[in-house]
Parts: sequence; C-alpha cells; structure tokens
Amino acid sequence: MNRRDFLGASLSLGALRAIPAGSSYGLPVGMPAAPGGWVDQAHAIINDAARAPSSHNSQPWQIGLHDREHWRLSRAPGRDLPVVDPDGRECSQSLGAFLVGLEVAAAARGLRLEQDECAGAAGALPLRFNPRSVDTTWLPALRRRRTLRKALAPLAGCEAALAACLVAAPSARFFAHGTPAVRAIADATLEATAAQCKEDAVWHELARWIRWREGEIAENPTGVTPATMELPWLAQRWVAATYSRDDVLTPAFRARSLELAARQVQEGAGWLVFTTEHDTPADWRHSGAELMRLWLRAVPAAIALHPMSQALEVLPQRRSIAAALGLKHIQLLVRVGTRPYPPDTPSPRLAAQRISALL
Ligand SMILES: Cc1cc2nc3c(=O)[nH]c(=O)nc-3n(C[C@H](O)[C@H](O)[C@H](O)COP(=O)(O)O)c2cc1C
Repeated sequence: MNRRDFLGASLSLGALRAIPAGSSYGLPVGMPAAPGGWVDQAHAIINDAARAPSSHNSQPWQIGLHDREHWRLSRAPGRDLPVVDPDGRECSQSLGAFLVGLEVAAAARGLRLEQDECAGAAGALPLRFNPRSVDTTWLPALRRRRTLRKALAPLAGCEAALAACLVAAPSARFFAHGTPAVRAIADATLEATAAQCKEDAVWHELARWIRWREGEIAENPTGVTPATMELPWLAQRWVAATYSRDDVLTPAFRARSLELAARQVQEGAGWLVFTTEHDTPADWRHSGAELMRLWLRAVPAAIALHPMSQALEVLPQRRSIAAALGLKHIQLLVRVGTRPYPPDTPSPRLAAQRISALL
C-alpha cells in the first residue's frame, strides 16, 4: 500500500482559506485580564460559544467587548472562503450557529443574550447581555457536539427523537432515504463534487485549511485535521508524518474525495433540508442558528449530523435540487443518521483571547 492509498477515500471537505498564524485579525492583542472579573467571564462564555460548527472550521467570528453587558459580533477578516463561499452564505450560517452558542454559554452564567436582528451582514451585530436565572440545560451538548462524518446508521426507532429535534428548527425538513427527493440531493451532491474536482482553486483553498501536523494545529487552531476527518489512527500518524499541501492538489486526492462522498450519500437515515422565505444575510444567520438549535437537541439523542455543502456551492446543482424538491431558497443540506457522540471533540478552536478584544 502506498501512502496515497493509505488515506483511502477518507476526505470529503469543502474549501478553505488560510489565516496568518498568530494573527489577531485586526483586533488589538494583549487584552488585560481581570482575574475573576467580567473579562474572565466573557472569555469563558466565548470559549464555550466557539464550540459552534463553522464551514471547514474557519471560525469566522470576532468579538469586540465594550463592557460587561455590551459586545459586538463581526466577521473576522481573513477567515472567509472566497472560492466556495463567495457571497458569505456559509460564513453567515456559521455566525448564526455561534450566536446560539453564545446564548447557551451566557444562560449557563445567568445572562440573557439579546441581539439586534436588523444589523447587516458586513456590519457588526450589537449584542447585549441582561441578568437572568442560571440555565445550564444545553451546555453539556454544546461542549460535546461535533460533526460526525462516518458510520451514520438508519434511524431504527429514533424517528420520534428526530421529530422532537425538528421542533427547534421550523425551517428544516427531513427527507428519508429511498425517496425521490433524497435521490435528487445525492445525485446533485455527487455532480457538484465532481465539478469541484475540476476546479484547481477549490483545492488550493482547501489545502490552506488542512492542518496535517500537531505543530500546525497548535500554531493555528482552525481548519480540518486528520482526527476531524475521522481517519483511522494509523492513517492519522501516516499523513501527519508525510503529507503536505501539495498532496491535496493531486488528482488522486480529488478522486478519493469523490469516492468518499459517494459512500456518504448512501449512509444514514436521510437528509435535513433547511430553507428560508428570503435569501438575505439575516436569513443565512437564521438558518445557521436553527441548525445549531437542532444539533444541540440531537447530541443527547445520539442523532449525528453532517452538513454537506457541495451541492449548494455549485449553481446548476443548487438549482436542480430546488426544482426537484419544489423548494425556494435552500440554505443547508445536512446528512442525518444515528451514532452516539464520542466523549472527545477533537476539532481545534482559537482561544477567546485570539478572537476578542476590549473596545
Ligand atoms: C455552514 C456550514 C457548512 C458546512 N459544510 C460542510 C461540508 O460541506 N462538509 C463537511 O464535511 N463538513 C461541513 N461542515 C462542518 C464543519 O466542517 C465543522 O463544523 C467544522 O470542521 C468544525 O468541526 P466540529 O463541527 O466537529 O466542531 C459545515 C458546517 C457549517 C456550519
């Protein structure tokens, strides 16, 4: 077996853009910490909220702290995905998921998050925190949630649990395997993946967001790693020792991504499709928030979720799914199946000190 075979068809990733290591993303560094004070509490809240999912773990959020009650959320410069997400749809969805993370983490510390829904996509979103009773209901799920990309099983008796999760996401609909809708989603996903295989820019972008080695992860804890790809242990060691950015650009790597996607679309119970009435940045944030609310309920029910965005990143496939399903603005396509959540969440995160600053 050569080193390329070693990976098997283990990769199914979209494209990402690197951020400069050690960058503070335009925010002043060295925020003074008041031990036990409100800044420490803010950091604790932000560290929990940052467990939110983001497109290819780009973590596109940054927080400005005015004082204990008044914060500002904005998009972090350099943590966008201009090739696969030129409009910033996935970025806004990630911010929507992060806002739910903030809500949960703040409630666990006796604070209620209020936000101004009217803020635009590019503009910063003002956040306000008011006292409330402590509620830790969703904190364990926030800390344990992760993307599970492999070994999703059919629902087998968990239909009611999924229905209960869906109450938290009115814009999501479940389509079960074996239906024409799921065939249309699977076909479009594979066609879109094949189309992306021909686009060099997609793979150059992706290559900058894969962290093959521990040292890279420690220096720049964003992006996708061998552990989050769910490679077998030995393969993780192998790629960490031998792989580089150039490997991501090869035709063989692209072919394996397509093979993996072909297996993934057959696994699990079906797909969740998130739609919105309109197609504005606020709608994108809204769908990301609904994904997160549903996901937090899915964790204790051992219902695994895996967003697969390829078919929404390539316009003809995006249109063909919308036509096949008779739906207007499709925002997210998420594979769903059963699988218990492991205790560990290996996906790296930037610490609060690197994504927040006093204003
Ligand atoms: C808007 C959005 C789109 C995503 N698209 C994909 C995707 O196409 N393929 C994939 O494997 N994961 C996708 N993900 C999952 C992210 O890769 C994942 O959240 C990130 O790597 C962090 O890992 P974690 O969820 O395990 O914490 C997406 C997540 C979000 C929020």
